Amino acid sequence: MARPHVVVYNEISIDGRIVGFDLDPGRYYRRGFRWHSDAILMGSVTAQAFGPPEPVEDQALVLPSPPRVPVYPGFEDLVYEPRPLLVVPDSKGAVRNWIHALAEPWYRSIVVLVSRSTPGDYIDYLDRRGIEHVVSGDERVDLASALATLAERHGVASVRTDSGGALNGALIAAGLVDEVALILNPHVSGRPEGQSVVRLPRPMGDGGIPLALVELERLDDDSLWLRYAVQP
Ligand SMILES: NC(=O)c1ccc[n+]([C@@H]2O[C@H](COP(=O)([O-])OP(=O)(O)OC[C@H]3O[C@@H](n4cnc5c(N)ncnc54)[C@H](OP(=O)(O)O)[C@@H]3O)[C@@H](O)[C@H]2O)c1
Repeated sequence: MARPHVVVYNEISIDGRIVGFDLDPGRYYRRGFRWHSDAILMGSVTAQAFGPPEPVEDQALVLPSPPRVPVYPGFEDLVYEPRPLLVVPDSKGAVRNWIHALAEPWYRSIVVLVSRSTPGDYIDYLDRRGIEHVVSGDERVDLASALATLAERHGVASVRTDSGGALNGALIAAGLVDEVALILNPHVSGRPEGQSVVRLPRPMGDGGIPLALVELERLDDDSLWLRYAVQP
């Protein structure tokens, strides 16, 4: 099966950062869910925002899956069936709050991407939560191989990111990205050290990676909606 079509999606400041400015999360997610992607690829830092880590003693227990929380009123139209998989690379076993993510209404289930060096106790914890894992790569997750496994096991043909510049950069460097879709928000980030939308894991030449504009729209608050195709 071919690798999935991958869209990198972010709201950015005019200096290309993804943090340090006010954004409307409702608008960001409303636009994101328009894609009806088969999977949402979320970074492990973003995933930790689902809620506080489970207490260590709870992590050691098999707990029943929590009931799904209802869709927030006004956001019912964001739900589509089958709901997307939530997919999170987490080679270090950092995300320990899965009980909260499992209660979210947006995803049909969760797949954690781990590597051959991920601590065994983390795999056990995932098993206790009934969360599937895919093993690839020695240290970090081998994203190409993991996406191929998702395509094969779950028929994942389309992926949208919900992540930061490191994951975006790793995907682009591996040649796995087809589109970059951005809301360009008219703010300068207040955090000069904040992550930029793409941080390549290694230099890739002075000429850069060319993109072609395929969509442009002016939004109500003078933000711009920009969709670029990665040149083959
Ligand atoms: N403005 C926006 O549109 C927007 C949207 C989403 C998130 N954010 C912000 O983005 C920030 C960071 O987000 P994040 O955790 O989602 O992503 P991130 O910092 O870009 O990347 C970390 C994730 O990418 C994986 N990763 C990084 N480099 C890799 C490589 N070379 N090979 C394989 N996997 C690699 C990491 O896996 P390991 O853990 O295995 O290393 C981890 O899951 C947060 O502050 C969040 O609030 C902003």
